[in-house]
Amino acid sequence: MTFNDTFLRSIRKEPIDHVPVWYMRQAGRSQASYRKIKEKHSLMEICEIPELCAEVTIAPVRQHNVDAAILYSDIMIPVKPLGIDVDIVAGIGPVIANPIRTLADVQAMRPLEPDNDLKATLETIRILKQELHVPLIGFAGAPFTLASYMIEGGPSREYHKTKAMMYTAPDVWQALMDKLGDMIITYMKSQVANGCAAIQIFDSWIGALSQDDYRRYVYPTMKRIFEGLADLGVPKIYFGANTGHLLDQWKELNIEVVGVDWRIGLNQARSIVGSKFAVQGNLDPVYLLAPKAVLEAEAAKIIDQGLEQPGFVFNLGHGLFPTAPEDVVTHLTQFIHDYSKRRLSE
Ligand code: CP3
Repeated sequence: MTFNDTFLRSIRKEPIDHVPVWYMRQAGRSQASYRKIKEKHSLMEICEIPELCAEVTIAPVRQHNVDAAILYSDIMIPVKPLGIDVDIVAGIGPVIANPIRTLADVQAMRPLEPDNDLKATLETIRILKQELHVPLIGFAGAPFTLASYMIEGGPSREYHKTKAMMYTAPDVWQALMDKLGDMIITYMKSQVANGCAAIQIFDSWIGALSQDDYRRYVYPTMKRIFEGLADLGVPKIYFGANTGHLLDQWKELNIEVVGVDWRIGLNQARSIVGSKFAVQGNLDPVYLLAPKAVLEAEAAKIIDQGLEQPGFVFNLGHGLFPTAPEDVVTHLTQFIHDYSKRRLSE
């Protein structure tokens, strides 16, 4: 099978014959095959068995014919070796037994050594590099999003403890940002060295911050991370939900792709960041529950906007959810390919 590099070509603004598409959380509970594996193995167990983890990563590529694979893992996996006692609890998400509260807690975090700490993950990437005929996307959680779990102790709506630490103990906050920044740089370098062709930094919950707080408490760390990864030579995608008010700062970052959700139009996002960046997004995943004609009309609208300038990757505005019908996900992928092929040959 020939290698399909449309995803990378589109990011580089080279000619494409169809719009590339992949879905955040494409490997997961929307697939019956995945739910079957989950009857026997937890997420963390799957991540420890490279052959199985590679299989779970490939499954949505086979099933839906998407143009990129995303490594099956979780943003909390590299946090555990730092000394954080994290578990991923079904139906809840990451739960931390020893949340970060003090400077001593942050200082106790040890640096990540991927070759020792994440052997199975790196082996999974090497297997995938052999087996995939589409690019493999590596990823990490961004410092704010990781810190929100590490400080709250689990998922949160309002991030009270997280923000309270920023405002009351800025030194502890910055020490945590520094440690997580180092971890992310080290981890991303090892993922790329072992075969990832692009990376995405998930800052899912960053939209909870004001522009000023982002500039003060988070932006310097993001700047450092992306500068630190610039030499890798792979495209860097930065994604967050609810980030319309932050894009004006994101455009100063050393990234190639801006990932947005449905709360902002692709046109609007481009008008803020300019034509230097590719954009990725931004279908509201709930459209997967709409009648086909409604889903197709919305996808066509996004493709039409995306194709107004070179540099577009179709994605959802946030992850696939467990009850998204599998056959509709396959149909949507086919529709995106067919519709964009027609548009591109006009
Ligand atoms: O297909 C893919 O996207 C790759 C795998 C992947 C997972 N998590 C697997 C997973 C990726 C990229 C993630 C990233 C992740 N994890 C994020 C950023 C993306 C986002 O959705 O905003 C966040 C915030 C997490 C933290 C996390 N882990 C949450 C909120 C949950 C859901 C809890 C629940 O059960 O509803 C998890 C668990 C998780 N990570 C699942 C999967 C497939 C589901 C539970 C499971 O199968 O055990």
